[in-house]
Order: sequence, then structure tokens, then C-alpha cells
Amino acid sequence: MSTMVYAHRGASKHAPENTFPAFQSAFEMGAEGIETDVQLTRDHIPVLIHDEKVNRTSSGIGFVKDYTYEQLRKLDFGSWFSPKYTGTTILSLEEFLAWSSRKKLQLNIELKNNVIDYPELEKRVYDLLIKYKVAGRTTISSFNPASIERIKHIDRKLATALLTSQSKKGLVEYARELGANALHIKYRLLSEKLVAKCQEKDMAVRVYTVNKTAHMRKCFLLKSDAIFTDVPDRALQLRDSLFDL
Ligand code: G3P
Repeated sequence: MSTMVYAHRGASKHAPENTFPAFQSAFEMGAEGIETDVQLTRDHIPVLIHDEKVNRTSSGIGFVKDYTYEQLRKLDFGSWFSPKYTGTTILSLEEFLAWSSRKKLQLNIELKNNVIDYPELEKRVYDLLIKYKVAGRTTISSFNPASIERIKHIDRKLATALLTSQSKKGLVEYARELGANALHIKYRLLSEKLVAKCQEKDMAVRVYTVNKTAHMRKCFLLKSDAIFTDVPDRALQLRDSLFDL
């Protein structure tokens, strides 16, 4: 099977990350999957934003956890990227799932709980996956190993991935023991040996964040299971040209 292309935070080179225009654009480009990040508001609503603070990607300042969802909706999440996107709002996970439930897309929901370990984030996300009937095509990933274990206690069949940017002896076995089904690695950790080890242990290996042509080529040729990229259109074009589809 060929390497799948996931749009990282949506098509985030083309539109503001983790917003509807970025997801819609990824879908229109033909990305097979979408990766997004979840944090929790003060009133416990899972929302799509990468950072713990809203400073970088909105008109506001401060921690996501200190805002209610209604307060967050008043911020502008588009104009930092381009004036063209002025007025773009934050999305809740629920809105994203309602949209994606009608699309043929794989989903990767990254729980951003390695800095702030939000209370019951796993269960709140899981309940929405069930509500929108997308659990079968979703992978939940986290840099927080305890979170992977918690998900497995909620539903051992839900696909999970341990995220890592650090090389470590016995990494694949470690992820396996946590109950993860996949390893999501930073590009510099990718090697033929690691891919072979993952295959041997029946673990998928997906690579982030792959934006350079040479790096995409390596991922495709080593047959990693997927890449996360800000430029899914370029990745799909390269993959087609390499495999002459
Ligand atoms: O989930 C893949 C990738 O997004 C992980 O790194 O820092 O972009 O969340 P980061």
C-alpha cells in the first residue's frame, strides 16, 4: 500500500492552520487524511488549536484553558495568516467531526496534553468520535504516554499513536507495550531500520512534518505508512510521479 498523505493542521501552508478553510482546502486537494490538534476550553469544550495559548494564531492573548468556548469564538483566527482570512473563527472538535463525518477522510486527532494534562480529555474526545460514527477511521495520537494508556482503557479497539521527536532504545517495543498501534515520528528519526522494526511489530509508522520534496521522496520510497504535510497537493503530485499512477 502506498504512503498516505495527511494534511497537517489542514492544508496549513495555504490557509490558517486548524481552521475550516485549511480543512476544506485539504479535502479539495485530495488529501486522504487530516491531522488536527485538540485543547480544552474553560468550559471543557474540545477545540482545534495547536498551542496552549491563543497568542500566535489569533487576535487574543492567554491560555485556551482560561477562555470559555463562547469567548474564544469572538477571536479572529485568520488575519494573522493573511487579511484574506479575517474573521475566521476557531472550530470545536464537534464542528470538525460533523463536517468530516460526511467526507471520505482518515482522521488523526492529536491530544495536546503533554504540557497541560486536561481533565478527561480522552473521554470527551472519544464520546464525540462515537457520536459522529468516525471512531473506525480515526487515530488518536499524543506525546503523552499516559494518555495513550488511558485511551486504551476507554476502548482498546480505538487506534492510537505515540508521538515522538526523540530517538530511544526499544522505542517500538515501548510504544507497543503502551498499547499504541502506531508510531508518529519526527522526520529526522526515519530510517529503513525503524520502518522494518515497525513492520515486524505490526505497528504503523507515520512521519511529521514533511514539507521538502527530498524528505517526501524518502518517506515514499521507504514505504512509511503516512506523512503529515502542510502541502498535501505537492505531496500527492510527487507520489503520483514516483509511482507513475
Ligand atoms: O501530529 C503530527 C505533528 O503535528 C506533531 O507535532 O508539534 O505539529 O503537534 P506538532
